[in-house]
Amino acid sequence: MAERSTTRRRIVVGVGGGIAAYKVCSVIRHFTEAGHDVRVIPTRAALKFVGAATFEALSGNPVTTEVFDDVDEVAHVALGRQADLVVIAPATADLMARAAAGRADDLLTATLLTARCPVLFVPAMHTEMWEHPATVENVATLRRHGATVAVPASGRLTGADTGAGRLPEPTEIGLLGDLLLARPDALPHDLGGVRMLISAGGTREALDPVRYLGNHSSGKQGYALARAAAQRGAQVTLVAGAVDEPGEPAAVEVVRIASARELQEQMIRRAAEADVVIMAAAVADFRPVSVAGAKIKKGESGPAPIELDTNPDILAGLVAGRTAGEIPERTVIVGFAAETGDEHGGVLDHGRAKLRRKGCDLLVVNAVGDGRAFGTEDNTGWLLAADGTEIGLPYGSKTLMASRILDEVASLVPNGEGGRSGEV
Ligand code: PMT
Repeated sequence: MAERSTTRRRIVVGVGGGIAAYKVCSVIRHFTEAGHDVRVIPTRAALKFVGAATFEALSGNPVTTEVFDDVDEVAHVALGRQADLVVIAPATADLMARAAAGRADDLLTATLLTARCPVLFVPAMHTEMWEHPATVENVATLRRHGATVAVPASGRLTGADTGAGRLPEPTEIGLLGDLLLARPDALPHDLGGVRMLISAGGTREALDPVRYLGNHSSGKQGYALARAAAQRGAQVTLVAGAVDEPGEPAAVEVVRIASARELQEQMIRRAAEADVVIMAAAVADFRPVSVAGAKIKKGESGPAPIELDTNPDILAGLVAGRTAGEIPERTVIVGFAAETGDEHGGVLDHGRAKLRRKGCDLLVVNAVGDGRAFGTEDNTGWLLAADGTEIGLPYGSKTLMASRILDEVASLVPNGEGGRSGEV
């Protein structure tokens, strides 16, 4: 559920005529529960899938499709001008074609012409329609006009077919909308063709068939990076340990691992094919020396001590692999640091020392302890670069933090178009 926002924003949810229209009910609820004022504008075709009464009940506002309803209120001008965000879902091929051509033959397309706020199109259609040159051109035109066109998910479509063109999950649409409200330029399509390998979540080191040593990582930060990178056009592989996430990000290949050594195997093998590697996973530094084949019994004299071995340092191994030429020299390597201050220095001091030790190009430093970073929805910290640049990452959602990290990554990859901003 979305957190109640401190500022009430005006959001227009435009609904196209596709079977996925029913999923948009959850998106409307996401925004109303956050305290926003939501106006739903369906197309005539959308009302064949979901009735106006449903949209009115969910939004608490009247619903109309036509420019000629409530003419005295000049709704097509007012709704667009006043909006802080427009989300179109499902964005059908026809709706995007009309929007790209600047048509204004119903209230939704007319509203799009008057909106000056961030506009997010979330496409859903059959794969053939998504890949048709006409749709490809319309998507490019909409992006050129300043709109964000989300990359659809792959999976089961209407009927028995599967492929690219599935509407991303409502939670993900809500997160992308929240991101654009917080930072209108957060999702430029600037990572096209960039292959990104990201680790997320915590590793689990087995003790016996039922027990393990683990940590509190939820995978939210790594998932947020994968989601934002895929929406910026990157080809993303996410290697995920134990996570607490409701679903998988759209257009991301997800590989599951459990232990640090399984993570190491996947990261080393896949890094040679990646332009960017990001280690957001919380990796256990130690593992039990042996894994009992049967459940360890309590025993008469209490629990036996657990003997531990040191796990490989995967991030340091990736950097060493690059130095040795096993990973291309141009591969950008990004690490994370979960730090607490102590008598030897503050969080940032420890982060700077870790950047030197690990030898990566960028290090995201987040303060942990007292309920911070691990398992939270929001995060804050610093981004330290090997060239000495230090950037403050203001407090906000993990998706917002991901978007700022990706700006820096984009400035380091050969075809990235990002740039540095907000330096401390
Ligand atoms: O998953 P969330 O709940 O969203 O929380 C996010 C997070 C706090 C887990 C994330 O933001 C974070 O900080 N991840 C790194 C946690 C960590 O393991 O930090 P570290 O300081 O112990 O390790 C430094 C770096 O080395 C990390 O990039 C880590 O992935 C890597 N590492 C650590 C140990 C090890 N054996 N091999 C590694 O590669």
